[in-house]
Amino acid sequence: MPEPSRAPSPEGQHYFSGRPQVASAPATVPLALPDLTLTLTTDRGVFSGTRVDAGTKFLLLEAPAPPEGSVDLLDLGCGYGPIAVTLARRAPKARVWAVDVNDRALSLCTANAAEAGVGDRVRAVHPDEVPDEGGEALLVVQKHLGSDSLARWLDGEGWPTRRLASRAGYRLLAAAAAGPDPAAPPEVGAT
Ligand SMILES: C[S@@+](CC[C@H](N)C(=O)[O-])C[C@H]1O[C@@H](n2cnc3c(N)ncnc32)[C@H](O)[C@@H]1O
Repeated sequence: MPEPSRAPSPEGQHYFSGRPQVASAPATVPLALPDLTLTLTTDRGVFSGTRVDAGTKFLLLEAPAPPEGSVDLLDLGCGYGPIAVTLARRAPKARVWAVDVNDRALSLCTANAAEAGVGDRVRAVHPDEVPDEGGEALLVVQKHLGSDSLARWLDGEGWPTRRLASRAGYRLLAAAAAGPDPAAPPEVGAT
């Protein structure tokens, strides 16, 4: 499968433009997973608007189930929302923060969440509207784009990183939150 183009469109727009100028042309794409099927609305001016990206699908097929309960989950760079909406459907009590810099993507994500019946729990917002989060990060990175050196770098920077899956040139990495700084003073009042 060809990769979606990361290059600017003929109109000089990247998919990560804040306000895409390319004319809107809404379309729908299917997202079929073993546990759910979605029809998502896409558009020009957003990432992979003609089909769900192969790396995105790999993540949704291989990632462990999200934690149960009233947790906060973050989809960083949500696009039109395939990951955010799937997370909200898989974790029925979670609040999902769907973050993007592209206003058209945020609008689509909001609409797709509503269409999938999870609009009350998916908050599609700009990066500065999200509270600080700890936790584990799941990343899909292509091998030829440096997934293995990224994993080593994350590990070396203090985010213990594991490879959870590898297929067709994609790696699924899990990076844990940094451990306590050994140089930091001990917390007072911690039990
Ligand atoms: C590779 S696309 C993935 C989109 C979506 N998760 C998917 O799987 O289809 C990355 C997304 O990150 C957004 N993005 C780029 N820079 C960002 C930033 N600094 N903060 C938040 N989102 C950003 C882009 O607009 C784009 O929608």
